[in-house]
Amino acid sequence: MQPPPFEIPHPDADAVRQMEKAWSRADLTRYLVRWQNSVLPDLPPAFFDYPTRALDLGCGLGRYILRESARNPDTAYLGIDKGSFRGGSMQERIEKAGRLNLFGLHTNVIPMLPKFPAASLDQITIFYPNPWWPPKHRQKRWSYHPILPLLAKLIKPNGTLVIASNEAFYLGEFRYALAHHPHLGSMMETYAGPIDITEPEAGRTHFEVKFLETGVPCGELRFKKRHHNQN
Ligand SMILES: C[S@@+](CC[C@H](N)C(=O)[O-])C[C@H]1O[C@@H](n2cnc3c(N)ncnc32)[C@H](O)[C@@H]1O
Repeated sequence: MQPPPFEIPHPDADAVRQMEKAWSRADLTRYLVRWQNSVLPDLPPAFFDYPTRALDLGCGLGRYILRESARNPDTAYLGIDKGSFRGGSMQERIEKAGRLNLFGLHTNVIPMLPKFPAASLDQITIFYPNPWWPPKHRQKRWSYHPILPLLAKLIKPNGTLVIASNEAFYLGEFRYALAHHPHLGSMMETYAGPIDITEPEAGRTHFEVKFLETGVPCGELRFKKRHHNQN
């Protein structure tokens, strides 16, 4: 079955202006001060025992990491979600699965990201992030966020960054950010278009299953981290 087409629009002039303003003002150290007195969990040391590592940001109920960790036992999968219901249920589901290469943390992912060593991840996935529609909240979208450049730093050369959304505008902004952010030159786009609905039991995450069941078109962007000497 052919997936429905999914147009990813160029962001409008106002969005471009606001993104560029946000990048020029970004001060990650200052942003992270809000967590300086918070007790944050440690990253699971056993995650780093695996040579190949994948991180799912805002993993919801963990469908993606549960399935992929069963398919790829030599890769470690870590999901992080802060939601009071989804994050808690995800951790329970992961503990119940009792799979050595599967890890889950019920916490906010933003202050956790600086804990990862540079170039320690083979894959980062972001499935159906909250679109933060009201313009006054757009600073919370990944494309505007001061943490965005860190995602690229954490990915190994040749590693991948995948983002899927039912919101075309969101992917348009993310695509613009990865192409124009002054600190994201290492990321090369490899795919932009509809999600793959041909795999058996399509629907990598709970939101994706819901969108497929209700006929909501979804799109995806994929990027690969360049080697230093690759243009
Ligand atoms: C729309 S849901 C998608 C969940 C899942 N990825 C899926 O596709 O089924 C967005 C998820 O991101 C989580 N989230 C948003 N911001 C987050 C943050 N800063 N840290 C951790 N989780 C976050 C929310 O709790 C929510 O579960």
